[in-house]
Amino acid sequence: MTDITQQWIEKDKKQLHPVYHPKSHANPLVIERGEGVWLYTTDGRKILDGMAGLWNVNAGYGREELAKAAYDQMKQLAFTSNFSGMTSLPSIQLADKLAGFAYEGLNTTFFTSGGSEANDSAFKTARYYWKRKGKPTKYKVIARKGSYHGITLASTFATGLEKYHTMFGPAMDGFVHIPAPNPYRYEGQLKDGETVGQAAARELESAILREGAETIAAFIAEPVMGVGGVIVPPGDYFPLVRQICDKYEILFIADEVITGFGRTGEWFALKHWNVKPDILSFAKAITSGYAQLGGIQISDAIRETMETAADTEAYMHGYTYSGHAMACAVGLKNLEIMENEDYPKRARELGKRLLEGLKSLAEFPFVGDVRGLGLVCGVEIVSDKSTKTTDPAMAMKIFKAAEANGLRSRPLGSTLAFSPPLSINEDEVDEIIRRLGAAMDGIG
Ligand SMILES: Cc1ncc(COP(=O)(O)O)c(C=O)c1O
Repeated sequence: MTDITQQWIEKDKKQLHPVYHPKSHANPLVIERGEGVWLYTTDGRKILDGMAGLWNVNAGYGREELAKAAYDQMKQLAFTSNFSGMTSLPSIQLADKLAGFAYEGLNTTFFTSGGSEANDSAFKTARYYWKRKGKPTKYKVIARKGSYHGITLASTFATGLEKYHTMFGPAMDGFVHIPAPNPYRYEGQLKDGETVGQAAARELESAILREGAETIAAFIAEPVMGVGGVIVPPGDYFPLVRQICDKYEILFIADEVITGFGRTGEWFALKHWNVKPDILSFAKAITSGYAQLGGIQISDAIRETMETAADTEAYMHGYTYSGHAMACAVGLKNLEIMENEDYPKRARELGKRLLEGLKSLAEFPFVGDVRGLGLVCGVEIVSDKSTKTTDPAMAMKIFKAAEANGLRSRPLGSTLAFSPPLSINEDEVDEIIRRLGAAMDGIG
């Protein structure tokens, strides 16, 4: 560490960072540049980014095409208002490209700057829809325990991880949490002969009946839970969820902020189970992290309710940066890259290699479970395999040892997450396994 870098770190310590605690920011890595899956620090270290930043840099670092798309658009027109009465070509073109791209019948896009804003927009849109349908008492959202939906006030309280609520209560009214279908450690009750998928879907129906369907606007779920520990649901869960939402007239919001744009081996993850949402939240990989962009897509049925709104019923929602011209131009170029390089296929093939490699580490006494779908995987660390007792301290130890070996993962409670750029190659996948294995060896 040069003296100059150390001086900047001391200045940085005066600032606030996301999910900040002074202890968590005592010794930050200062990243100077990136190339492909590799990050380079100011003190000369080279680190394999096994997390693609924050699950988002799908196209890898240092892509000139994306830098050029941003430069060209900034020179011509960086920004124009996208509020009613104005628009820009890149935002029109990206929305047009996205029409029906994720799911048939989701043809309308509303842009935000990221995933939290997308989920807030989804909640407000669900409420708007039910008001327009003459059912204004439908305002609550059912979410799952362990879910992460973002950091704005509403998305914080939609999130099902207590630690995000502790210092920001009282809780916002209108969010109800039910158990998630975690095949390794299901928190709810299993009836005789019931699968985890059936039990978790039954919890949705029970919550609807308990609260009253006439009060519920929407159900929100990540197809594969990310921050909650990379939980891949059993195959029967989402088809049942869709049926229940239809039965009780509840909108299904798919939060595909992590799983969107190829990550799981399909362009969008509910495709694995042939299920379609009413509202889709997306962000992160739409630009591979090269610009701040997110959004929602809504079903044609929701769109139609807006066509007949009275003068007093405008959709009074929008951000200064909705449809940001430069961000949309980067999104368009990034989609072109992801299509040309067939990222869903890469995620399927390289994800299989990653998962198999991680599974080869299951012989370590502290590896309780290894799971994944496409190129998003989790390794759950336990203190006892038979009791499945979680061991976040050991997970943190392995995370630090791996980082010292030049591999960046992400500790999420007792689970280490891996979600590398989809541009990763086979040797680099093997390098993740080698470096993680060496870290575990050093501890084990
Ligand atoms: C599933 C999910 N939803 C929403 C968000 C929030 O997105 P952002 O951080 O862009 O606001 C995240 C962020 O990690 C996420 O993982």
